[in-house]
Amino acid sequence: MPTEHASASASAGRTGASARLLPEVQARDAGGERHAVAVRDMFDRISPTYDLLNRLLSAGTDRRWRKRALDVLTESLPAGPVLDSCAGTLDLAAALARRVGAERVVATDFAREMLGAGRDKVPASTRLLVGDAMALPFAAGSFAGMTCGFGMRNLAEPTRGIAEAHRVLAPGGVFVVLEFFKPTRMSTQVFHAVYGRGLLPLVGRIVSGDGEAYGYLSESMRGFLTRDQFAEAMAEAGFRDVQARDLTFGIASLIWGRK
Ligand SMILES: C[S@@+](CC[C@H](N)C(=O)[O-])C[C@H]1O[C@@H](n2cnc3c(N)ncnc32)[C@H](O)[C@@H]1O
Repeated sequence: MPTEHASASASAGRTGASARLLPEVQARDAGGERHAVAVRDMFDRISPTYDLLNRLLSAGTDRRWRKRALDVLTESLPAGPVLDSCAGTLDLAAALARRVGAERVVATDFAREMLGAGRDKVPASTRLLVGDAMALPFAAGSFAGMTCGFGMRNLAEPTRGIAEAHRVLAPGGVFVVLEFFKPTRMSTQVFHAVYGRGLLPLVGRIVSGDGEAYGYLSESMRGFLTRDQFAEAMAEAGFRDVQARDLTFGIASLIWGRK
């Protein structure tokens, strides 16, 4: 079965590398609950400096990537509410609110402090909820669209997050994922090595005093699915018309599909 194949190869990769992994990533190997708690605590911890670091390290590229994600979403978005899962400090949710109307947007994240840090970016009519992307607090078929920006690779079981996206979408609903997938091309592997294992932890340590947390971001890419494995997992979960597009030479990618 393609999904099992995708997860199996991802966990095989993680097991082989586990001796070199940071505690947060090792916890994913050790079990979902420990992983979730470690990741949530880490994001709560870095929430005060998350935005500043994003701006410094991406030089605005992350904004362009989020815009591209919303272009894809709104190309054929049915009427109805839209969920931004793993919403963090609400950059994507705020852009979404401007694009489709704040009252249509619901944003969730399991790290309360991340949502709190971004609260002022969205109007009061955007609903914010603390919630786990692997067990979303919504009835089946609640949303016309769903986005997830740089969140899926943090999940203890990404396939559960994909299944939840499929469950909460109404038939015809669109799911758009913006993510750093496990790099497969030599050029992106080199970029990830220099940026993710060098620059990111270094600047993270200087700005937030927490180089380890920023080291995690790079480790989490290496321990994640490739773009093609993720697309396969989406198709296996029942999404149709699954498509993908690389952004900025494949540093990040968009994947989307329809229920
Ligand atoms: C790298 S941040 C991305 C935030 C935001 N979407 C953005 O584009 O800047 C990842 C977010 O995913 C959240 N997250 C990780 N695992 C989660 C889970 N199982 N359920 C809900 N949120 C989760 C973290 O708390 C964090 O805020």
